[in-house]
Amino acid sequence: MIVTPDADGIRRAADLLRAGSVVAFPTETVYGLGADAFNERAVAEIYRLKNRPSWNPLIVHVADVTAARALARTWPDIANELAAQFWPGPLTLVLESATQGTIAVRVPAHEVARNLLDASGLALAAPSANRSEGISPTTAQHVLRSLPDVPMVLDGGPATWGIESTVLDVTGETPRLLRPGALALRDIREVTGTVELPDEVVDGAERPSPGMSKRHYAPRARLILTDDVTTVPDAEEPVGVLTYETADVRGAEMLSVDPREYAADLYAALHRLDDRGVATIIVKTPPATEEWMAVRDRLHRAAAA
Ligand code: TXA
Ligand code: MG
Repeated sequence: MIVTPDADGIRRAADLLRAGSVVAFPTETVYGLGADAFNERAVAEIYRLKNRPSWNPLIVHVADVTAARALARTWPDIANELAAQFWPGPLTLVLESATQGTIAVRVPAHEVARNLLDASGLALAAPSANRSEGISPTTAQHVLRSLPDVPMVLDGGPATWGIESTVLDVTGETPRLLRPGALALRDIREVTGTVELPDEVVDGAERPSPGMSKRHYAPRARLILTDDVTTVPDAEEPVGVLTYETADVRGAEMLSVDPREYAADLYAALHRLDDRGVATIIVKTPPATEEWMAVRDRLHRAAAA
């Protein structure tokens, strides 16, 4: 059920969460599927609904830095500086957990997410609210289409960033990028000096290394990256085109040449192409520059069959 996040909607959602149920809610990046992070049964329900493999850990969403610190065994200076600069916002920090192993935590900026954290008084484990390996949802409607059994979706309209948070491991000497995302590396470097990059994104998001080339963020259709979308291959099945400049291709989904605007519309465009029932999506490869890193990462993963 899609619910308006007014005072009554927030209260009902918070009640569900406190009772150990799951609720989908908007964040500034993508919609999340939330549950009480300390209720094992509730968290298990997230994994079941998403069909998510149990080895893939969840991001815990909290209201403020104090709540984040409480989850961490140690709180490095760099975490302080990053939190002061970018929280609330689309940055996830991986820290040593207060209990065992590591924990990923972020303070979301979206008003509805914040109201929900306040009203429930909980830390909320929340992955993107889609079936595992599917496209992340940027609207409440996307959530329901991917996860029709979710009991409640708070509708906060289209997500502003439209791409997931940047995940940064701050457990070591040098901060290490685990997932490029909404927050630009350039902005992070202004705080941290250097950032270690995973092999597959050095030089601007080359094809993911074998261990990480799992199909992820994928539409139903097969996705093919190419420099030239004007010569669409002959195919018996319908083909969709996704590009970002004025290429004269009939019926193409045309996104912005600005990487941030492109990212904001990417998942919605992939959802639209899936809705049209195309079997193949031809995508113009974005430039191999750092600003396009997050978009290229998602496209390469979606193309890795
Ligand atoms: O923007 C976002 O981050 C969205 C919204 C809802 O907050 N959430 C999201 O969650 O994208 P999810 O579960 O789809 O992606 C979480 C990522 C995964 O790549 C996961 O492997 C990684 O964070 N992660 C979680 N805990 C981790 C940990 N302890 N160490 C390393 N990576 C971790
Ligand atoms: Mg996800």
